[in-house]
Amino acid sequence: MIDPFGRSVSYLRVSVTDRCDLRCVYCMSEDMTFLPKVDVLTLEELDRLCGAFVAKGVRKIRLTGGEPLVRRNIMTLVESLGRHVAAGRMDELTLTTNATQLTKYAEGLKAAGVRRLNVSLDTLDAAKFTAITRWGKIEQVMDGLMAAKAAGLAIKINTVALKGVNEDEHDDLVAWCGEHGFDLCFIETMPMGEVQHRAGQYLPLSAVRARLERRWRLTDSDHRTGGPARYVSVGETGGRIGFITPFTHNFCESCNRVRVTCTGTLYMCLGQQDAADLRTPLRASESDGPLNEAIDAAIGRKPKGHDFIAERAGTAAVPRHMSVTGG
Ligand code: 5AD
Ligand code: SF4
Repeated sequence: MIDPFGRSVSYLRVSVTDRCDLRCVYCMSEDMTFLPKVDVLTLEELDRLCGAFVAKGVRKIRLTGGEPLVRRNIMTLVESLGRHVAAGRMDELTLTTNATQLTKYAEGLKAAGVRRLNVSLDTLDAAKFTAITRWGKIEQVMDGLMAAKAAGLAIKINTVALKGVNEDEHDDLVAWCGEHGFDLCFIETMPMGEVQHRAGQYLPLSAVRARLERRWRLTDSDHRTGGPARYVSVGETGGRIGFITPFTHNFCESCNRVRVTCTGTLYMCLGQQDAADLRTPLRASESDGPLNEAIDAAIGRKPKGHDFIAERAGTAAVPRHMSVTGG
């Protein structure tokens, strides 16, 4: 699949549910209304949808949410997609998770062919964690992380840089990740969905990096994981730090990905509204003909990039929350 700007689309992110067991303040409002079940694709439909993308050349699938591991029977989908990896039709199957369910799922994920996880964690402080997630318990996340580590899954911690919230902890996060052999990735808050807390929390990663450099020896690295992060190596820990900078550096020119929601809506860009309905063609026919046509038409109008503007980081550039499209 080649888009109008010559970019090859080989990476599909699939939000398997819009629900989550947490309510991170920058991600969700406290009183979210979730989708009615009839609108949500079944796991079989999601599997078929992913299969169509794999047949079209997708080599990497990331399951996201909401929180993917709160979807009932999610392992049936993971196992089915893992078969594409085993058969060499796909390079990688990964998940983005908040780690709350990992004590239950880590070993199963590894057995199904998952090798890496992205875990969202913005603080190591128990009280702060509860404040950011509105009710989460950090012990549950730590237990989940250690279960994943013990199962042999490689872990990348994703931390949203939040001004006045976790900026004093970035050094501790680098040290802690170094100790456990986790990669660490900082993300700038993106203006997605109306939430009460984001205004004023935007912290440019150029400032985060400058501050880290006071304590750590950072050297630019060529390491890439197929996503938008740019990496540095940390001399003291041997670990890596990634920076995802939608504002201070435009990551769109090398975009290789599209996102599908749990209702089968395909978003060609995280930061744009244009979307394609894949549920109708999926449900209309047992053959993949209409579905394939809809995918081709959508890729044919993938936009050049997002229009996020740092000065307006507090107001929503797109009305949908991150939990709809997936991180
Ligand atoms: N801006 C940046 N990152 C966000 N996430 C959720 N909402 C936002 C936002 N508005 C992150 C989560 C998680 C991933 C799924 O996306 O913290 O790491
Ligand atoms: Fe849930 Fe992730 Fe959103 Fe937090 S950021 S509410 S863990 S989906």
